[in-house]
Amino acid sequence: MRVVGIANMKGGSGKTTASLLLATELAGRGETVALLDCDPQGHLTQWRLLERSADQPPVFGNITTAGLPNLLRRLSENTGVTVIDLSGASDVLAAMCFGLSDLVLVPLQGSAMDARGASRALELVRYVAQNAQAPVRQAILLSRVSPIAATRSLRHAIETLRAARVQVLDTPLVERGAYRAVFDHGGALATLPAALGGNIANARCNAAQFADDVLAMLDAGGEGRKPAPFSSLCFRQSRPDLADAALR
Ligand SMILES: Nc1ncnc2c1ncn2[C@@H]1O[C@H](COP(=O)(O)OP(=O)(O)OP(=O)(O)O)[C@@H](O)[C@H]1O
Ligand SMILES: [Mg+2]
Repeated sequence: MRVVGIANMKGGSGKTTASLLLATELAGRGETVALLDCDPQGHLTQWRLLERSADQPPVFGNITTAGLPNLLRRLSENTGVTVIDLSGASDVLAAMCFGLSDLVLVPLQGSAMDARGASRALELVRYVAQNAQAPVRQAILLSRVSPIAATRSLRHAIETLRAARVQVLDTPLVERGAYRAVFDHGGALATLPAALGGNIANARCNAAQFADDVLAMLDAGGEGRKPAPFSSLCFRQSRPDLADAALR
């Protein structure tokens, strides 16, 4: 099982939207996906109540630091990807989720407040990685980018971040009415009635490219990639084939 944590200490930066788009896109491709709603606001939990179809990923709420390892251990038996939607809190639960994530995504809109919230999230990720003495992969996800004026200012933001050696996903999440409509209507972009969501085709294309980028990051490094620092403590079994190879 691969785990993707989505965090930014600034409220409203697009964490829950990104979590839902990633999970429903991967589920639509046939992947077994679970969503962890770590936000007391419970937006994902409410979304799931709107459409209870088994085609959509299950949402697990009331997540605590005590319960998380067991939940992930249970999920790892039959889940390919778990997506964790974090609240804006910079707390032990967030730190634990970072240590258990194969990739931490930090959605960022082009504002100074969002950037400060993002740097607090990235600092906490670095703190966990330093203490665990293991890397945690992380990337900025540009969110709510205007579909019209995405060009110069966006390129500038990407260049600035990359110059600061921060990895940025190639695909930004564009501002789309369809992304809001999914939360009102339930289900996924693929099941959204045409009248509701503005340009659904473009939204689906954007969400699919975003998911492709995430999968590419998760797969980067191939078999040699390092597991999340805390994963062996809670759900990743040591690989018997590797243990055998070490003994030969
Ligand atoms: N790409 C987008 N296109 C259109 N609307 C968006 C987009 N991203 C986010 N929004 C809207 O912006 C608001 C905040 O987004 P979201 O809830 O995803 O942020 P958040 O970081 O999870 O917020 P919080 O910190 O409160 O949990 C919501 O109303 C959401 O519908
Ligand atoms: Mg949220």
